[in-house]
Amino acid sequence: MTQADISFADRPIAKSQSGRNIKAPRYLTTHYWWAYVHPRAVWFFERQWLVNLILWGNYARLRNAAMTELGEVLPGATLQMACVYGDLTSRLVGRVAAAGGRLDIVDVLPIQLENLRNKLPSGAPARLLAMDSADLNLPDASYDRALLFFLLHEQPGLHRERTLSEVFRVVRPGGKIVIVDYALPRWWHPLRYLWRPLLAVLEPFALDLWRHEIVHWLPGAARAGWHKQSFFGGLYQKIVIMR
Ligand SMILES: C[S@@+](CC[C@H](N)C(=O)[O-])C[C@H]1O[C@@H](n2cnc3c(N)ncnc32)[C@H](O)[C@@H]1O
Repeated sequence: MTQADISFADRPIAKSQSGRNIKAPRYLTTHYWWAYVHPRAVWFFERQWLVNLILWGNYARLRNAAMTELGEVLPGATLQMACVYGDLTSRLVGRVAAAGGRLDIVDVLPIQLENLRNKLPSGAPARLLAMDSADLNLPDASYDRALLFFLLHEQPGLHRERTLSEVFRVVRPGGKIVIVDYALPRWWHPLRYLWRPLLAVLEPFALDLWRHEIVHWLPGAARAGWHKQSFFGGLYQKIVIMR
């Protein structure tokens, strides 16, 4: 990784000069331009109440579940895969700072990293890394833990598989991978029937997570050990993989 890939929380995002191809994947520009890529997307969506509404009022619950699972104190190196709207990262960096640790946040879109930089306190122990989650320019076993918050449902199968395999590679043996994302709601959940057609149109790969367990895309997880917790009638899940 060259210096140009890295930006600290209080310095501008640099464009990659490492020669690695970090252009936005096609699924983002085709299906998610309105949510992340368009310059007005950040202006529109960066509102906690709106993200909470999109998650049917579950933002705080899911954010807290992810953070509790990562740990009350976060020494060492923590990886957050992809930026998120709302205050998850600011809270995470607070815990990391209190323990003398470091937080790295990877995202493939400079506009999202720029937005995140504006949300983080100056001097926060955070590095903003312009990379594709499926092709991390990061050393093996270099993180104690990693978080993927609502990223995998956006990715087509092959990209999802590569992302999981990359996260598995960069988290050290004994470390923890925490994933929060969509899942198949229980049969009695009204959103099982109402949400399905909407997801099919707006988030075309999300229904993959209704059909398979997330570890389906990470065969190594079966050996490593994992467990799952459901939320909100099963519409959301938290998966924990012990590396
Ligand atoms: C984590 S997801 C969804 C977050 C959720 N909707 C929220 O804001 O709470 C959105 C982020 O993932 C990033 N992203 C999507 N595909 C990526 C990839 N292949 N590599 C890195 N970042 C990616 C997007 O640029 C965007 O910033």
